Amino acid sequence: MKYSVLLLSTALGAVTALGLSTGSVAAKGKLNYYCSAQEDWCQLMAKGFEKETGIKVNMSRKSSGETFAQIKAESRNPKGDVWWGGTGDPHLQAAEEGLTVSYVSSLRGELNDWSLSQAKSADDKTIGIYSGALGYGYNSDLLAKNNLPVPACWKDLLKPEYKGHVQMANPNSSGTAYTTLATIVQLFGEEEGFEFMKGLHKNINQYTKSGSAPIKAAARGENTIGIVFLHDAVKQAVKGFPIVSVAPCEGTGYEIGSMSLIKGARNLKEAQMFYDYALRADVQSRALEVKAFQVPSNMGAKTSSKAPSLSSIKLINYDFGKYGSSAERKRLLKKWDDEVKTLAK
Ligand code: G6P
Repeated sequence: MKYSVLLLSTALGAVTALGLSTGSVAAKGKLNYYCSAQEDWCQLMAKGFEKETGIKVNMSRKSSGETFAQIKAESRNPKGDVWWGGTGDPHLQAAEEGLTVSYVSSLRGELNDWSLSQAKSADDKTIGIYSGALGYGYNSDLLAKNNLPVPACWKDLLKPEYKGHVQMANPNSSGTAYTTLATIVQLFGEEEGFEFMKGLHKNINQYTKSGSAPIKAAARGENTIGIVFLHDAVKQAVKGFPIVSVAPCEGTGYEIGSMSLIKGARNLKEAQMFYDYALRADVQSRALEVKAFQVPSNMGAKTSSKAPSLSSIKLINYDFGKYGSSAERKRLLKKWDDEVKTLAK
């Protein structure tokens, strides 16, 4: 009896304490945060912001194309406040479709030109937070074990020996895979580009939902070659897995990972605070804690010597205006669905 009274009063004490702390957090506000970068980096950003401001962060991590579709589906009754990370193309499409709102941060003077040009092209409805080049990575143990040639170019991936050894994401859900499709079309022209995608389809073992999944599978030894951003391949190598990165010989595209404020956000003030937080040099430097080796948009943020050096990669002049436009993204995705995805292998 005494015990249960004691337990009850302890429990009540805990509830009161919880009630008080919940109350104080509620007083400082909350933030509904949609994240399309790697889960560990998303978490680090959420926790860092929560710790510094006391604002309670509800995070949801989904791929770039999926997040775009969610924001669009929720547009009459928005649930998200800020969208951080993921490739720039769907952020640009969201801006064009009026799903996001303009904001000019006081930290703009600290940002690289490529970050600001993203903002300029979208009436300040989005901004670049990082950038990184596309390519692929392979598991060198599996390549050797299967007696496969070492690939160096995009076109190498069409070799029949690689059948069942290549993985990429689905460009509808994944910004990485949409960047791949748009890069191939820009590199080889639309007709030849689609022939390439059809040839590649024969070698693909699975189209994943998330862009970085193919290289994580390669790191686990479940897949040989993954088409991903080079920093995602480097991350697995730095973690100690036998992953080699390849910047394709023909040249390659790149992303401007972006951030946008969602139209109709219920917590706009908190979303703007997060936006400013995410542009700070000290905050962007923390990416290295989770081995996120993208190029930061703040010129004062720390970088690592392990990061892929963009200056040594043959980059195409990726046309973000065109490939981030609503009409073009829709058209290319539909064409890929109709002509590539449904092809028999
Ligand atoms: C990874 C990369 C990011 C990229 C993101 C896109 O997380 O590290 O640089 O923006 O993929 O994700 P998605 O799943 O849309 O391809």
